[in-house]
Amino acid sequence: MSVNSSVKVVVLDKSKELFKMVSLYVESEFETNVLHHESPTSFDDLESKDLKEVLYVCDYTFILNFQSEFKSLGSGTYKRSFIVLEDNLLFGDEEKREIELILKEFKHNFCHRDLIKNQFVDMLEGMFGAALPRVDLNYSKMSMDYFLKSKNALVDTYVKIGAEKFVKIVNRGEDVPEEVLEHVTKKGVRFFYVKKVDFKECYRSIVDNLSEGSSTKRGVGGSLTEQFTSIENVHAALKSLGVSEEVLEIADETVEIAKKTIQEQANLPAFLKEFLKNENYISELSTLTSYLSISCLSELPWGNPKNFTKFALASIIQDAALNDEELAKICHLESEEFKNLSEGDKTKVVEHPSKAVEILDHLEGMDQDIKDIVMQHHERPQGKGFPWGLKDNELNPLSNLYIICHEYAHRIITGGLNLANMKKIDQDFREMFSSGNYAKPYKAFLEVFRSKR
Ligand SMILES: [Fe+2]
Repeated sequence: MSVNSSVKVVVLDKSKELFKMVSLYVESEFETNVLHHESPTSFDDLESKDLKEVLYVCDYTFILNFQSEFKSLGSGTYKRSFIVLEDNLLFGDEEKREIELILKEFKHNFCHRDLIKNQFVDMLEGMFGAALPRVDLNYSKMSMDYFLKSKNALVDTYVKIGAEKFVKIVNRGEDVPEEVLEHVTKKGVRFFYVKKVDFKECYRSIVDNLSEGSSTKRGVGGSLTEQFTSIENVHAALKSLGVSEEVLEIADETVEIAKKTIQEQANLPAFLKEFLKNENYISELSTLTSYLSISCLSELPWGNPKNFTKFALASIIQDAALNDEELAKICHLESEEFKNLSEGDKTKVVEHPSKAVEILDHLEGMDQDIKDIVMQHHERPQGKGFPWGLKDNELNPLSNLYIICHEYAHRIITGGLNLANMKKIDQDFREMFSSGNYAKPYKAFLEVFRSKR
């Protein structure tokens, strides 16, 4: 079936996730198809033949990463316009100005990364009007790629055989017959149609299918009600901060191995079993710190699976001696929160790193690096941490990096992923970690989030 719009939609992204979502939205509502490209200049001349306009949909970080390519986009034989995806994490006025400058020659709009379908479709309609024809008002279009995850038709399904003519090929609940499939595939049909009233039902099932891969990666006892206890939420947060998919995969594997290592201990103490079930600040901090530190470590020469696992193990055990999340939140002994504690609680806070090391002493396979990291996870630059007030050059080098990530995770969880907090962290970190033995790991840390700076 020919797709007769003069506007082609191209999703620019390294991975295919965004493409899947955009194609589902666009192709169900408009008579055009959606392509996926990894670079703004990889769009082939052949593909652009007879085109009047190309709409690029991409994340603002993608534009920042490919600045020079975007700046060198010529006028070409067709018009270019953009929908730039953003969020309110680090996308402030400054970032908006930067993007507007890069895209100043082209029509562009901004849209939130969450991609609310109605808003996104309205935006496309507003930008292109009649140049991007809508699918027949009574039907929604659906790519066969998504539809055929199972041959069973969720709802009555049609193919389009003329400008406004639709033929039902299968009834709700029945399997699409092989011969029909063969026939339509041979004819180059890429889309099925379903009645608009039925679309929601299909759509929900397709979206569930699209996200199936990531939902199986949910962490131990992962709960979506907590901010960072679920691996998906940690992924989403880190991705929005610029961490790549590949690095997150390494972190996933490592964290799983570390969890197994702890859970399979021959004599895992009962209190530790209970501790590991908790979903609170302590577990959020643990998950986020391990993902952050593994991401940063992957930028350094000593980034190898053994060291990744040390970070993951350290982050699981670091606060195992505390059962009160309010005590775990205290990162500075000069803070009001600490000063207001009872003497008993003060001791618990100060001693929790050494108590955690005692726990490690009873577990198998915990080496000195892991013990050092746990012992030193509250040390801070200029000897401002606890329990010993160690300076940068008195720490295990792995701890220098771990501390940066621990502080970052703590501040994201307590202050939230918002522009004001992120900018404050950025500024404070530059002052705290730019010198001495913190400098190299801090550089790796910046490298991981470079797309957001
Ligand atoms: Fe701690």
